[in-house]
Amino acid sequence: QISEAEVALFSVSSYACQRRTTLDNHNSNLTDALSLLAENAELNNEDGRGVAFRRAAALMKALPTQVISMSQLRGLPCLGEHSLRVIKDVLENGVSSEVESTKQSKRYKALKILTGIFGVGAKTADRWIREGIYNLEQLRHSGQTLNRAQKSGLEHYDDLNEPVTKAEADAIGEIVQKAVDSVLTGSQVALTGGFRRGKLTGHDVDFLITHPEEGKEVGLMPKVVAWLESRGFLLYQKTTRNSYLESKDGPARPASNMDRFERCFSIFKLTKGKEQESTQPEEQNDLKTKDVLRPHMQVDTDQQLCELSKNYQMEAASHKIWRAVRVDLVVSPISQFAFAVLGWTGSKLFERELRRWAGHEKNMSLSSHALFDNTQNKYLRATSEEEIFAYLGLEYIPPSERNA
Ligand code: GTP
Ligand code: MN
Ligand code: MN
Repeated sequence: QISEAEVALFSVSSYACQRRTTLDNHNSNLTDALSLLAENAELNNEDGRGVAFRRAAALMKALPTQVISMSQLRGLPCLGEHSLRVIKDVLENGVSSEVESTKQSKRYKALKILTGIFGVGAKTADRWIREGIYNLEQLRHSGQTLNRAQKSGLEHYDDLNEPVTKAEADAIGEIVQKAVDSVLTGSQVALTGGFRRGKLTGHDVDFLITHPEEGKEVGLMPKVVAWLESRGFLLYQKTTRNSYLESKDGPARPASNMDRFERCFSIFKLTKGKEQESTQPEEQNDLKTKDVLRPHMQVDTDQQLCELSKNYQMEAASHKIWRAVRVDLVVSPISQFAFAVLGWTGSKLFERELRRWAGHEKNMSLSSHALFDNTQNKYLRATSEEEIFAYLGLEYIPPSERNA
């Protein structure tokens, strides 16, 4: 046993946006457990529980050293009864029984697999599960109608569930910059999302596009998309138009936190780098089943056939000279750019906490478009993230420390 006097106590602010959270996590055993329960809650549409677990996980991420005893957690914010129970279980037994049973559950496994399809959310996955669909094989044979996004998501399932590297993000960044330069000179592209926070991998790549002259950016997205599409860079794209209404003396107040920028959800076709490329390019595109189905092999059972087919798919995938990557493009007018950069840099919890801080502590409304002061009844203009933190009365937190 460790005596109380020996134990290091932590002092941590209650809002994630008041804290510096780097990628250096000293309590990943605890944050993994809490994040999995958060994810499970979200997959079951239990948003309240999801946020509670996310806040608890974020708090543990912000601690400067590894937690070894429950007594160290006394007085800390964001830790509810349920989260404390999970932490206690991990500290005492190495694992949380609730996490282990969740991971093993048929429903959780199915929700993970099905929502792993781009275009499939928790509600669709739940409906499919109620109809007896638990995996991709069952989905393919179910006769369910899939929309365009889901078809594309299913087709590129493996690629899209493979983490995107920083090198791939940079390669896509160059393509996007080229597209933007070609359709409107002077346009600027900023990498946002997890990569801006210094993450080494991500589930997608996020870009924000603007032009230094207000108004020039209008209609830019369709042109960029057309440029990319005509050169074969896009496997899928869905562009949504700007629905953020401008009034005479400034932008209208957004009705919700959902932003109204011109936005494009896309799947890029990224040619693999030279180091990943096959050494026999002439064989790349016509790998035949015979390459894996050697003559001496006997195929007696369905299982063997299935095994061979899997090998074939893996062989084919390793010879493929391109991969599918999810890319989000957003166009912002320069007047809203600072808010857009802040809003699209994340993390999701950091953003949520910034908005909660603004509303609850400052009587202000923050979105990816603007900051409105409800007390003064006016918009607060900003050209940098630093200014926005200052308006909010928060110490500036750089992107690399927003990994809450
Ligand atoms: P990975 O992509 O998994 O590496 O993490 P990420 O932090 O980049 O997450 P993601 O790409 O999902 O989102 C990046 C940022 O954009 C996060 O801060 C989100 O809150 C924000 N974001 C995503 N979708 C929307 C949206 O529809 N509106 C607004 N305003 N922000 C969004
Ligand atoms: Mn991202
Ligand atoms: Mn994204």
